[in-house]
Amino acid sequence: MAEQMGIASSGGPLIRNISDTALWVAVYRARETARPDALFRDPLAAKLAGERGEQIARSMQFGERHAWSYVARTWLVDQMIAKQIQQGADMVVNLAAGLDTRPYRMDLPRSLRWIEVDLPPMIDYKEQALSGEKASCELERVRMDLSNVEARRELFAGLGRKAKKAVVISEGLIVYLTRDEVGMLARDLAAPASFQFWGVDLISPGLLRMLQKNLGNPLTAAGSPLKFGPEEGPDFFLPYGWRPVQVDSLLKTAGRLKRLSLGMRLVSMLPASNGRQGSRPWGAMCLFAKE
Ligand SMILES: C[S@@+](CC[C@H](N)C(=O)[O-])C[C@H]1O[C@@H](n2cnc3c(N)ncnc32)[C@H](O)[C@@H]1O
Repeated sequence: MAEQMGIASSGGPLIRNISDTALWVAVYRARETARPDALFRDPLAAKLAGERGEQIARSMQFGERHAWSYVARTWLVDQMIAKQIQQGADMVVNLAAGLDTRPYRMDLPRSLRWIEVDLPPMIDYKEQALSGEKASCELERVRMDLSNVEARRELFAGLGRKAKKAVVISEGLIVYLTRDEVGMLARDLAAPASFQFWGVDLISPGLLRMLQKNLGNPLTAAGSPLKFGPEEGPDFFLPYGWRPVQVDSLLKTAGRLKRLSLGMRLVSMLPASNGRQGSRPWGAMCLFAKE
């Protein structure tokens, strides 16, 4: 079935749609896993990424040179989730979950409810590929196009009623949305009382332009151009009810984790703020709390 739906099948351009980007980023988790000093282990990533994921990664030279940013992002979100659970989170909602396998690879409370949302072909592919695996918590998957505003509001409200304290995560989603779409999504996520935290990756206008130039063409050709890198930085989310409580630069994190080349390590040591960046290339994992 996954083959019919296109995920992981061959032929055509390497990146055919937004979901193919999930195969690509899973490759970086697989490669980190293969290192003797791996910062996390995702033993299912290689299988999920498949040969197609490897081909995409190899074709994205700029992505290959910046693989550290995906490793840092994964590591930061792992830490963020573990801390949120320690502090009482009883639900994790992973929007655009792609091929993330945290419910299988992290040590989680059995009673934790984990909800993955993604487009139907992606969930079909993932469920088929992971059919023999057992998650360590209560895992539920929702096939949904998150651009369907009515459907997502209904989903968030329903999940909100089932949780005392939910943490939402989204990695590699909002960069593909317009400012207005991100704002509306942020507002919808702020509606349920129990949705208290949101972990999301953010880039500066400078990094957006750099990525558009160096990675953008195959993504645009696949109908998924890179669009979002707000001037305001994390404060973009304030009017929508979300206050930044933790902002971790991916570059500085990758430096601390020893995943940078010498040149990049020197750059990572330069003083940097977590506010407005202007033309400076900057990417971060941000944790927002509901106002
Ligand atoms: C770059 S991948 C990131 C996947 C995952 N979060 C990770 O970091 O590995 C982008 C994901 O967003 C999903 N996606 C994009 N637009 C979506 C939409 N409108 N509704 C649901 N999922 C969407 C894609 O199917 C894909 O799995």
